[in-house]
Amino acid sequence: MSTTNLLEKMTQEIKHYPVMCREVLNLLDLKNKKIIVDCTVGIGSHAHKFLEVMDPDAFFIGIDRDEESLNIARKKLAQFKGKFSLIQGDFSQIDALLKNSRLKEKSSFPDNIFGVDIFFFDLGISTYQLNRPERGFSFLKEGPLDMRMDRNYFLSAYDLVNNLSEEELINIFRKYGEERYARRIARFIIEARKISPISTTTQLTRVILRAAPVRSRRFRIHPATRIFQALRIAVNRELGVLEKALSRSISLLNKGGRIGVISFHSLEDRIVKHTFKSFASSGTLKILTKKPLTPTESEKEENIASRSAKLRVAEKIC
Ligand SMILES: C[S@@+](CC[C@H](N)C(=O)[O-])C[C@H]1O[C@@H](n2cnc3c(N)ncnc32)[C@H](O)[C@@H]1O
Repeated sequence: MSTTNLLEKMTQEIKHYPVMCREVLNLLDLKNKKIIVDCTVGIGSHAHKFLEVMDPDAFFIGIDRDEESLNIARKKLAQFKGKFSLIQGDFSQIDALLKNSRLKEKSSFPDNIFGVDIFFFDLGISTYQLNRPERGFSFLKEGPLDMRMDRNYFLSAYDLVNNLSEEELINIFRKYGEERYARRIARFIIEARKISPISTTTQLTRVILRAAPVRSRRFRIHPATRIFQALRIAVNRELGVLEKALSRSISLLNKGGRIGVISFHSLEDRIVKHTFKSFASSGTLKILTKKPLTPTESEKEENIASRSAKLRVAEKIC
């Protein structure tokens, strides 16, 4: 099968639920908004909805670090040709991404891209990425210990697992995974890699299972869940880049423009909450979600990946 046909097949097969879509559309209120930027466009499921409801003269820009996801999104959004542009890059470089792409794609980009009327972030990884064994995000699928969202990035989970010191591993597992057996798991990793490097997801999972006390294996959450999450966050520097990206985005927003963020991790949500609060106290933002919105019970049932989602939205008022 040719690459194009394969991509087409994959695009059709991928069933992806845009998390909290109704709430996102209600709160972002796309009416009269001209420039919409989705900083985590992924395979384009939210994007498809945005493009369906936005004004006829509005323009959509989707950013993602992951080239493979962007290729799927490009196919999925093909019917909206001329109304959108997709850019590969890290959203922490938002200014440069918007500027450079405008130069490259002069024809389709509106003249006044600064500022933006809507910024949207749906953080973390997608179900699509999680389900691709060769990306190494899932402990349930045999694959290389990779976990890079941007596959050109120089550092992978393999590098961290096989090179960091015991203390550095403990730190990552505690900070990003809130893992209570961080010390024990790090010790077992250090011992295992003395024999040979840990190079696959299942090798790492086996080490974690050996390290996890028997009682923890009866917990509802698999003992590898938090360790994989922690490594993914560390490899992709997910928390480090978020605050800068949010601050820059708020600066680029037009007055009356809105920013919405869905987070899946308590540390991420804390960063969103504090950044919004700090811009609200200086009179720049009005927070529209005093408490973060969470998915309805029926959404959680239908899409288990949505269960820890929190949505916060704010409007720029000056
Ligand atoms: C939860 S998924 C988004 C799914 C998307 N809303 C959809 O409807 O398909 C998160 C996406 O954000 C991307 N991502 C995470 N951190 C990023 C960053 N710093 N810069 C750009 N993209 C990032 C990931 O590669 C992933 O595709």
